Amino acid sequence: MTFAATVLTLYPEMFPGPLGISLAGRALAEGRWSLDTVQIRDFAIDRHRSVDDTPAGGGAGMVLKPDVLAAAVDSVSGDVPVLAMTPRGKPLTQARVRELAAGPGVAVLCGRFEGFDERIFEGRAIEPVSIGDYVLSGGEIGAFVLLDACIRLLPGVMGAASSGEDESFETGLLEYPQYTRPVTWEGRTIPEVLRSGDHAKIDAWRKARAEEDTRLRRPDLWERYGGDPVLSPSGARQKIEE
Ligand code: ADE
Repeated sequence: MTFAATVLTLYPEMFPGPLGISLAGRALAEGRWSLDTVQIRDFAIDRHRSVDDTPAGGGAGMVLKPDVLAAAVDSVSGDVPVLAMTPRGKPLTQARVRELAAGPGVAVLCGRFEGFDERIFEGRAIEPVSIGDYVLSGGEIGAFVLLDACIRLLPGVMGAASSGEDESFETGLLEYPQYTRPVTWEGRTIPEVLRSGDHAKIDAWRKARAEEDTRLRRPDLWERYGGDPVLSPSGARQKIEE
């Protein structure tokens, strides 16, 4: 089954961009996913082909017009969920990425300027999604992030590695740290336990490090995982027995 991605944007020439190379690019060439772009401006109604207008109530920037957005969204087949990239959206999670990757595809609406006229979210079934607590100049880079996260999970794209239950966020914890040769680099040696061949000890060490790094770097994830609340971030790691 092909995962059908449609991107609605004022800059279709940005695509496939980074999704045309490496893993995602190979999967695209193999037909594991497909990409269509829709030029939002093609749905402008006035003779100036305008897609935006000044914000009601005043303020800086321009707002994408609901009539133009609706016409663009209505041009996409109704079989896939429609997401809109916006810093006002619900934060994207690995759990949502897994659901989307298991479905028929996704349509991604990319904003520019100050954002979307809010009525588009009332008039159409569109899920507002954010890729993080910072503001991008447009939704296209968010769309790359969302699509990349989905594509790597499609069957045959990454093989065993992407089904990895150890991956960051799959367990509710950050992944444990990784090492490879040389055994000693600039005086720093790979933890002895990882070279011991004792798989029970290795698993225990990895779990301890995953928990510790999550507690220190992501107290939000740590508390959701059920760890004791982090009172004050000390910054310093405890020594885990090697
Ligand atoms: N557009 C601008 N900022 C964004 C963000 N953080 N996530 C998704 N889309 C955006």
